Amino acid sequence: MRIGYGEDAHRLAPGRPLVLGGVRVPSPVGPIAHSDGDALLHALTDALLSAIAAGDIGALFPNDDLKNRDRSSREFVDAALARVRARGLRPVEVRGVVVLDAPKLGPHRPAIAASVARLLDLAEEGVGLTFKTSEGLAPHHVQARVFVRLDRL
Ligand code: C5P
Ligand code: MG
Repeated sequence: MRIGYGEDAHRLAPGRPLVLGGVRVPSPVGPIAHSDGDALLHALTDALLSAIAAGDIGALFPNDDLKNRDRSSREFVDAALARVRARGLRPVEVRGVVVLDAPKLGPHRPAIAASVARLLDLAEEGVGLTFKTSEGLAPHHVQARVFVRLDRL
């Protein structure tokens, strides 16, 4: 059994699409980012890589490489997952926290959890997601923290 942990944060600005866990969430603000700015999938990618001590997302997809501009973050997860599987391991449990003052994410929890489960080929009960506001401490940011547990394939 292996445990991995990852974090990510993006600044928010009006008029940008908000994508979390691969799901587009209706919102007047979205992340300023080089890719689609999916903080949950970026934290998940780092969690997967950290579980196998394989560095982090920047080593796989340098954010100064134009090729990576506007890339779907699903590709980042897929690349990390391929490395996990190459070591004979698979994710069996994901626990994530997203900190965002608005909009409310609760109504989108089933869709986001299902999307993450599908990406990892994992049962839906294997994905636990918690949403928190920053209580106004970081109103213009979205932050994500993710634990992942791997087991043998
Ligand atoms: O941060 P706080 O504890 O005030 O959040 C209260 C509740 O609001 C959370 O437990 C969560 O259910 C929900 N929430 C949400 N979407 C957010 C932030 C919080 O659904 N962006
Ligand atoms: Mg990011």
